[in-house]
Amino acid sequence: MELRNIISIDELNKEQILKIIESTIYFKEVLERDLKKVPALRGKTVVNLFYEPSTRTRTSFEIAAKRLSADVLNFAPSTSSLKKGETELDTIKTILAMKADLAVIRHKDSGFVKYISDNINIPVINGGDGRHSHPTQALLDLFTIYEHFKSMDKIEIAIVGDMLNSRVARSDILLFKQMGFSVFTVCPSMLLPEDMSYFGTENFNSIDDVIERCDVIYMLRMQFERQNRKLYPSVREYNRFFSLDISRFKKMKKGSILMHPGPVNRGIEIDGRILDMEEENMERIKISEQVSNGVAVRMSLLHYLLSQQ
Ligand code: NCD
Repeated sequence: MELRNIISIDELNKEQILKIIESTIYFKEVLERDLKKVPALRGKTVVNLFYEPSTRTRTSFEIAAKRLSADVLNFAPSTSSLKKGETELDTIKTILAMKADLAVIRHKDSGFVKYISDNINIPVINGGDGRHSHPTQALLDLFTIYEHFKSMDKIEIAIVGDMLNSRVARSDILLFKQMGFSVFTVCPSMLLPEDMSYFGTENFNSIDDVIERCDVIYMLRMQFERQNRKLYPSVREYNRFFSLDISRFKKMKKGSILMHPGPVNRGIEIDGRILDMEEENMERIKISEQVSNGVAVRMSLLHYLLSQQ
């Protein structure tokens, strides 16, 4: 079955995932060349429609498209006719009338990207919708893990933090389970989704329960903008059970890695001093590597969707 859109991880089968990983290896090699560009998508136009603030995901798609020689149109909702009362679908149709070949969409509402993709006739990639899904982040995370361990066998991963509000956690858990990883979560009970059985993960109440045993410690960002009420007593209380400080960092299993989708709230999820040690600890701290791999994964996805037409 060919893929038309990338909206949610559960639409991808294992074979497609492995194909994406394989071509990411190739595109990463392109990015390491002196001339970081291939003509694969010359003449194609990718439109970035980001209704929510984003630095890394939007620029990552933009660089990825440009490295493939596609043209890129960045749509900034605040300056558009949306302010004049045009509906989002009308705005999108106007942009598509300018003959875009693929749209990357991010929106604060879960399900918005699927709705748009059902109503337009070009491929759509989900750049993150509400609390629902962030498939390209999950794929770049998987690639980062695969690249480090050179295998996907017997990986134990702990996802730590604000599960309730995280689309990254939702997509990561689905993808990692599909690849056979053992996935644990570490999350305060107030930030747990009501129906954890959907994920089928074992939840722990402190990062200390997983820090010495897991191959990957994946810290989530505290999604303050999505928390409409205070869901834990204080930052100090959060730090006590859920944050990565220097002494916990030192306890991490030999050969294990630390990941975070960015942007990091320094001192909340991770002690700022750990982030400042990244350059000397590239084998362990993979946060910048995730950003680099994001470009290669997105090249692979753009190429996959646009070359099968
Ligand atoms: C994530 C997002 O926006 O969902 N960030 C990202 O894409 N790099 C994670 C987050 O904001 O916490």
